[in-house]
Amino acid sequence: AVDKALGGVIGELMRDGEMKGKRGELTLIHTQGKMPSKRVVVAGLGKQERLDTDAVRSVSAEIARFLRRRGIKKAASVVHGAGAGGLAPDDSAQAIAEGALLGLYRFRAHLSKEDDNGKGPEELLLLEREAERLPAIERGIERGRIVAEAAALARDLVNEPSNYMTPTILAERARQAAESCGLEFNVLEREHMEALGMGGVLGVAKGSHQPPKFIILGYKGDPWGIRSTLGLVGKGITFDSGGVSLKPAEGMQAMKTDMAGGAAVIAAMQAIARLKPVINVLAFVPATENMPGGGAQKPGDLLVAMNGKTVEVENTDAEGRLILADALSWAHRLGLRPVIDVATLTGAISVTLGKVAAGVFANDQEVADRIVAAGKHAGEKMWQLPLWEEYKELNKSTVADLKNTGGRLAGSIAAAQFLHEFIEETPWAHLDIAGVATTESEKGWEPRGATGQPVRSLVNFVLDYAEQR
Ligand code: BES
Ligand code: MN
Ligand code: ZN
Repeated sequence: AVDKALGGVIGELMRDGEMKGKRGELTLIHTQGKMPSKRVVVAGLGKQERLDTDAVRSVSAEIARFLRRRGIKKAASVVHGAGAGGLAPDDSAQAIAEGALLGLYRFRAHLSKEDDNGKGPEELLLLEREAERLPAIERGIERGRIVAEAAALARDLVNEPSNYMTPTILAERARQAAESCGLEFNVLEREHMEALGMGGVLGVAKGSHQPPKFIILGYKGDPWGIRSTLGLVGKGITFDSGGVSLKPAEGMQAMKTDMAGGAAVIAAMQAIARLKPVINVLAFVPATENMPGGGAQKPGDLLVAMNGKTVEVENTDAEGRLILADALSWAHRLGLRPVIDVATLTGAISVTLGKVAAGVFANDQEVADRIVAAGKHAGEKMWQLPLWEEYKELNKSTVADLKNTGGRLAGSIAAAQFLHEFIEETPWAHLDIAGVATTESEKGWEPRGATGQPVRSLVNFVLDYAEQR
């Protein structure tokens, strides 16, 4: 219809090979009074047989940034993919909303000057001719907005430098999020953790001047407890220097992002509270710095986790599994099920999967399948790795029940197997997001810096669980 209104210019551009329709290809055309709108942007969605919500989400992000670069404040669009593309209108609308909001994200909290490009588009209108499709489209937009805002919250928390994101500040930001959407909020101080025997968190916190915080968020969508209460656990190391087993200086600043798992869990809880599924969810985020202060734990030290298991701290840089040990022990004791933990746990996971997919480890195939499916739907790739009995060997200590490093081989699996000792037979999956939590280069809906993964997958998982069980 637009081509016709413009006297066939789109067709001509295609015939002349100047427009190929490649995914992400954007062409700006001035309408010269032939249409009410002054400009038309033609967006390539790629091959029709490969059109999915990932393509729509990505292209929507590219379009939104294109509009921002040109200072265009208002735009209207068709619901990409919902026509000839064959996508469900709500999925397509959700992907468009997510793509635009996630693609426009920038972390500018500490820049004193406004960017030349300004703030970007203020209004994106979706047009649909068939009225009966509107409710689904509106639902999709609303859901897209809620999950994208949650992912942006996670990005904001992760992108902050560690002096602006201490355990105390992280707890405060979680409290603000909880108050804004009606979540229950609680934070355990050092004394409470001592009373509960959380030797893992306390051991890691010993080297830091910042007090540790154990953040708890609760969502009650099933007041009669018809279904089991789901558990979410996130690693909240606000800076990982390695501790006495100090990391090399080069690249250490990246360790300000070591609370990305905790941030994802807090953000997912915010979205869950706004989407209101019929289920109860309890979230734990143990938060501390890992520093080499004078009081720090030392290689060879021994600690007792909350479930009574003793751990030899062979390397203080394997701190994530120590704090998660307490959180998972507690989740197990409380009978939460299933439990998902999210952690930037090992550098080894990016040796295995690069920065393309999160590693999934599980003691229950159904939980693994469901989280991988939730990830696929969100466009956040996840790949399962094995947790075979044989790997238990890696964490054997001669002086304690376990040691916290497994040697050179199968590093990510050893870490996951360590966590398994604390969640025991509670149905559980562990997501190692050390590769996917951040990105160096802008691509589609992911600008440089924190990605906000796997917030939308966690939300999908919880919503699906609430619907299916
Ligand atoms: N936070 C790191 C893992 C990490 C590495 C996250 C790179 C993001 C990017 C974790 O605490 C760590 O230091 N793991 C060690 C474990 C080792 C000492 C067994 C690692 O991966 O080297
Ligand atoms: Mn570490
Ligand atoms: Zn760490």
